[in-house]
Amino acid sequence: MSVASDHDVSLQQFPARALDAYGQVEFSRLDRKMAMFRTLPEKDRDLLPEFDQRLSALAECIEQNTKLLSIMVQSASSIRAPANSSLTPQDERNGQRNGHTQPDAQNDRPDAGEHKTKKHHLTSNGTAPNQDPNTEENQFLSRQVRRGFALLAKDWSADGAQQRAIYYHPLIEAVQHAYDEAVRASTSLTRNNFRVLVPGAGAGRLPWELVRRGFMVEGCEASSSALLVGNYVLNNCTPDDAITVYPFVHEHSNVRSREQVVRAVHVPDVNPKDIPPETDFSIRAGSFVEAYDGQDGTWDAVVSCMAFDLGESVISHVRRVSQVLKPGGTWAFVGPMPCLDGGQNDMIHLSVGEFMTIVRKNGFKMVKQDMVRCMHSSDPESMRAVHVECPLVVALKVRPAL
Ligand SMILES: C[S@@+](CC[C@H](N)C(=O)[O-])C[C@H]1O[C@@H](n2cnc3c(N)ncnc32)[C@H](O)[C@@H]1O
Repeated sequence: MSVASDHDVSLQQFPARALDAYGQVEFSRLDRKMAMFRTLPEKDRDLLPEFDQRLSALAECIEQNTKLLSIMVQSASSIRAPANSSLTPQDERNGQRNGHTQPDAQNDRPDAGEHKTKKHHLTSNGTAPNQDPNTEENQFLSRQVRRGFALLAKDWSADGAQQRAIYYHPLIEAVQHAYDEAVRASTSLTRNNFRVLVPGAGAGRLPWELVRRGFMVEGCEASSSALLVGNYVLNNCTPDDAITVYPFVHEHSNVRSREQVVRAVHVPDVNPKDIPPETDFSIRAGSFVEAYDGQDGTWDAVVSCMAFDLGESVISHVRRVSQVLKPGGTWAFVGPMPCLDGGQNDMIHLSVGEFMTIVRKNGFKMVKQDMVRCMHSSDPESMRAVHVECPLVVALKVRPAL
């Protein structure tokens, strides 16, 4: 992976840098809207008498998000990563680097009163001097934070239950079925030594659902923002100590109502600590193909949900899945078809048939192939919400990888 020059942000630096960038970028967007509104003739402004209140409501939500982000940043010390790991704008699709974060029961929720968030106010003349919200790095970091909030809402709130049912339930069933079959072959097998790997773990709900059912689970995640929010929920949240996020406040177009944009999402909808005590659960920070080099034949199942939006070679990814599985192991995945990324925006988009050929040639036999209808938007209420048909596949490793 090429490492770009001045926007490199290490996994350790990400939380604090993202906190600064998010506030600067998002408040500056509101400032620009307000400045633009003020250039309208008075009779036109009168047609939108509540515009000021509308922007103030958005500003209040962003302020609350900034406070939440600050709390998450305080808890990020349990995310471990090598000092030279970095995330660049180019890595937004790629996802890279190694490190490790573990759900840590001892990690207490910090006192929100101690966190330093800058109080932002809407102005008509832009942001404070020396803070340029428009740098590529700041824009990138703020986009990452927005994605993190969207993943948080989808994974850990009641609002995301419908989407999770579509994606996660068939994958969980596939693991359960694989385990039932494996137990028939080996009576000494127990759930907590049935090893399940989840590349592209996002905010951690899918691996957590599998751990809750007693399996030994490791997630792998390349995105710093997904790691940040997932780490916070898994280690610090309980329903009694719930948090509120405003994940839809950044989307200003294709909205049905003002209320849609400022609606609050409460997290979590379950107690993340409610997992069997003897289970082994961790999330590894890093890129799947690199991070699992040398783990051949050690996993019973691999589960991938919407985790093929990868810039790294898709073929290497499929090969690595095949390599890490034990003979007879199960790969269950759902997601849109990936593309081979040649860099410089050159891509080869794969058809379902082409992708399945790559999967078969890497030693897999399909045991199930369906299509599921997935939401392709972070806000299900957006007028721009679109649905995509995605293959849902369960495959068994019957031969070694190519
Ligand atoms: C669309 S999100 C889906 C996350 C989660 N599986 C879910 O369903 O909510 C895809 C995730 O996969 C991660 N990802 C993509 N490529 C990866 C790779 N090579 N290694 C690890 N994580 C990767 C991205 O960072 C992103 O968080």
